Formats: sequence, structure tokens, C-alpha cells
Amino acid sequence: MLWSLLVFGAALITVNAKLPTPRTPPQVIFQSSVSLENIAVRASSDLLLTSFTSPILFTFNPKSTNGTLAPVHTFSNATTLTGITEYRPGVFAVLSSGLSATTSTMNLGSVFLWSVDFNARAPAVSVLGALPGSSGANGITTVPGHPNILLVADSFVGAIWQLDIATGAARLAIQDPALSAGAPPPAVGVNGIHVRDGYLYFTTSQTAVFGRVAFHVEGGNVSAAGAVQTLASLGDGQQPDDFVFDCERRAWVTVHPGELAVLEAPGHGSAGGWTQVAAVGNAAGSDADLVAPTSAKFGRGSEVEDKTLYVTTGAGQIVKIDSSEYN
Ligand SMILES: *[C@@H]1O[C@H](CO)[C@@H](O)[C@H](O)[C@H]1NC(C)=O
Ligand SMILES: *[C@@H]1O[C@H](CO)[C@@H](O)[C@H](O)[C@H]1NC(C)=O
Ligand SMILES: *[C@@H]1O[C@H](CO)[C@@H](O)[C@H](O)[C@H]1NC(C)=O
Repeated sequence: MLWSLLVFGAALITVNAKLPTPRTPPQVIFQSSVSLENIAVRASSDLLLTSFTSPILFTFNPKSTNGTLAPVHTFSNATTLTGITEYRPGVFAVLSSGLSATTSTMNLGSVFLWSVDFNARAPAVSVLGALPGSSGANGITTVPGHPNILLVADSFVGAIWQLDIATGAARLAIQDPALSAGAPPPAVGVNGIHVRDGYLYFTTSQTAVFGRVAFHVEGGNVSAAGAVQTLASLGDGQQPDDFVFDCERRAWVTVHPGELAVLEAPGHGSAGGWTQVAAVGNAAGSDADLVAPTSAKFGRGSEVEDKTLYVTTGAGQIVKIDSSEYN
């Protein structure tokens, strides 16, 4: 989430000259009245959606004609839901919090991590733990090989929290100036986070970075195992939010005000930053079909769905994109 949705005009530094033109344009499949913040996809292919301005977890069937958002659960004592991730088959972790109207940060003590289990006949909701020191709980990720650890990006503390879901214990796992906004709230530091191959990949919004940090897990504790690396610097005014990796190891990064940037690592063994190889929408934010994109996930359940990207936006859009059009 970006607390401030400021609109600038700028471009990514490294853009390939030839960007493909899609034959199937992105399609807004739903316009919600609440802003949309984060997305998960169930094995059934139904979408699970959180909103920064609602305590309700919603579901949406992307295959329905004229579908609507259906409430799954309303979290008590919350104004806001942020990150959501599937941490066991059919079981999702969701962050809830209470936002202060005066400081636009989350009230200390209001951040909880919940489990929503769809394996039962009706979704079973229980608390996994709390993050009492968090004021900006945002993106969330699992850690492959460590089923009891969930990592949460804190956009205002400028750090990564770890929550042990077996004990409910929370601790600061990684804190680094590179994860901070470098400016007071509502400027947003670390935002989206995802683990791949022993690295925690992240975006920072205010400083417009896509980066990573190696980490290790010792005695159940996550800590950095190297310096934080910048992989791509987006241009002035571009504010990256959540992202997703595809099976070709490209990162699809949602970028405010209005772009989905596709970033690719340099060729095997070569050094240097990641390159932007495609874009949906544009850096100026003038595409009415992609307004303040917040997160992206691939569909599930068929070969076509595996290549279909669902993007949420702060303007309440669910945008369906055929990712194979951008190869
Ligand atoms: C969907 O909505 C449109 C516009 O309101 C309507 O014309 C169409 O019949 C609806 N389709 C279904 C399957 O309900
Ligand atoms: C809601 O928050 C208030 C104030 O922090 C607290 O006293 C109360 O116990 C909470 N209620 C629930 C159901 O968590
Ligand atoms: C893990 O971290 C906690 C809290 O930061 C600390 O008390 C504990 O000793 C650590 N465990 C190990 C094995 O380092």
C-alpha cells in the first residue's frame, strides 16, 4: 500500500527499446467501491482480496460474468487489511490493523496476523499472533523450508518482522536503512516482499527500489546474511508496491501511479541490474484501466490460468492480464 498516492511523470532508467504490443489488452473484470490492496489466489481459482479501507476479507470468482465481491470474514477491531499469503494448502495468513486517522500510521498494538482456513466447510478464522511493535505492516511472505515462519514488511519501521506461528512470538528479523522510507510517514519504505532462492526480494516505495537481501535461519531466527542489494531503481515519482515472480523468473512489479513493470535479471553469470522488458499501463499513470496498482498474482487451476495475471488497484479495479502476451 502507498499511503500517499502522488502522481508524477517519469520513466524507469533501464528500458528495452522494443516493448511488445499485446494482442489481448488488459481487461478490468471488476470495479469495486473499496480500494484494493493485496491478493491471493485459491486452488479453486477464486481470488481473495484485502482492502486498506475495510476490515472485510473478500472473495471474487474471476470466471463469473458480472461477479461481485463476497465477504468472507470481517476482522474485529480493525480498519485495514494489508498482506495476505497462503502459508499451508488452503490456509491463508492475513494482516489486520487499526489505522490512526491523525498520523496515518497503524496504532501500536493493533496489528494482528490471522489464519483463514478454507479446508473446513466454512472458513475457520483464528489468530496466529500479533506484531505489537509494528506501525506499518504491509507485505507478507512465507519462507520455503520453514513452515512456522512468516515475514512481514513494515513500511514505517523500515524493517522485516518475523512471526513464529507455532508460538506467536514476534521479533525484528532484518532492519536496514535501505528498507526505510528516509522520510516520515506517510512516506512508505519496504512494501512488497517475497522469498526466492535464499533471498528476500523487496520493493521500497519512497526510494523506488526493487532489491534483495540474502538471509539465513538459525535456531528459528531469520537474519540478514549480506548487504541489501539494489537490483533496479525506478524513476523519480515511481512508487513500487507488491510484485510477483513468473516461472521465467521475471518480476511483475506494480508501480504507482499506473504501471505494471516487468523486470528481468541479467543473463546467467553477468553482473549488473535488472532490466525492464515490458510494461502494462504507463509510468505517467494516464491509463484509466490501471490506476494505482497495488498487487499481482497468477491464476491457478489450468495452463491458461497459470499465465493469467490478476492485478488489484487502489482505485478498486481487478485487472486481468494475459502474461504470455508480454514474452
Ligand atoms: C451482465 O451485465 C450486463 C450489463 O448489465 C448485462 O447486459 C448481462 O446480461 C449480464 N450478464 C449476465 C450473465 O448476467
Ligand atoms: C479492541 O481494542 C480495544 C482497545 O485496544 C481492546 O480493549 C479490546 O479488547 C479489543 N477487542 C477485541 C475483540 O480484540
Ligand atoms: C532468537 O531471537 C530471540 C529474540 O530476538 C532470542 O531471544 C533468541 O535467543 C534467538 N534464538 C537464537 C537461537 O538465536
